[in-house]
Amino acid sequence: MARLQDKVAFVTGAASGIGAASALRFAQEGAIVAGFDLKEAFEGDWAEAAKTAPGHFFITGDVRDPSALEAAVAAVKERFGRIDVLMNSAGVGAGGPIHLIPLEEWDRVMDINLRGTFLASRFVIPGMLEQGAGSIINVASVEGIEGFEGGSAYNASKGAVMLLTRNMAIDYARKGIRVNTICPGFIETPLLRSTFQMPGLEAQADRIRDAHQLGRFGQAVEVANAALFLASDEASFVTGHALVVDGGYTAGHRFGLSELMGLS
Ligand SMILES: NC(=O)c1ccc[n+]([C@@H]2O[C@H](COP(=O)([O-])OP(=O)(O)OC[C@H]3O[C@@H](n4cnc5c(N)ncnc54)[C@H](O)[C@@H]3O)[C@@H](O)[C@H]2O)c1
Repeated sequence: MARLQDKVAFVTGAASGIGAASALRFAQEGAIVAGFDLKEAFEGDWAEAAKTAPGHFFITGDVRDPSALEAAVAAVKERFGRIDVLMNSAGVGAGGPIHLIPLEEWDRVMDINLRGTFLASRFVIPGMLEQGAGSIINVASVEGIEGFEGGSAYNASKGAVMLLTRNMAIDYARKGIRVNTICPGFIETPLLRSTFQMPGLEAQADRIRDAHQLGRFGQAVEVANAALFLASDEASFVTGHALVVDGGYTAGHRFGLSELMGLS
């Protein structure tokens, strides 16, 4: 049997990158997927999958807008009766040292990354409580675990998502709802590509890539595979966990000793 057979998944940020790859993996494993994104259409592989899988559908909306999320959740429930999996992947990256970051930029990052996660969860959880079951996956980041130069708003939002997740895991555990975060390292998505287009950052890409012990950036599908595990019943005893998918980025440091050990 497919790993998400007959489950209904609601994925924010589903039009691109990690959200799109996860929506596709969920669909490949038997789930009906409702995507929610500012953008109007699924991209890439998912667009192809959606064409041949008419059960899946897409709602255009902003995770900052409570009424849009509430209406989207209601539409999915009306059509399919339930939501088994919520993946909060909508997110933006921005920062800068805090004496320079514009106030609107700080608010935008917090509103999308943190408040958007809160809002989608808020509207999906009542249904999960009625069902007595559900899996919520919040996409945080290695930058929710560690600091990063200039990370400010982004890192603060992701750190908050991680702690919100643990609290949600505690609050809803006895009601059958599991809540976990995924903390990706640097993943090759449109978000990362646009980040490296910022003045001066392009030159740092090699150093940042090298900070991943596996010596490369990750692919969206590698995060999606972790999301699939957390979404599925295979993770039935996993809640309140932060699953790092980072090619060893947070494992520690290299100082060139590997060469001495013949391991470079
Ligand atoms: N790419 C990375 O290196 C990386 C690393 C760690 C964590 N993450 C996190 O993974 C998640 C997905 O990022 P990605 O790399 O796939 O980025 P992406 O830009 O490819 O996809 C993000 C999607 O979120 C959507 N979105 C943005 N704001 C929205 C809003 N207000 N309402 C609805 N949808 C909105 C965008 O339209 C886009 O389709 C984000 O939360 C990001 O912070 C990414």
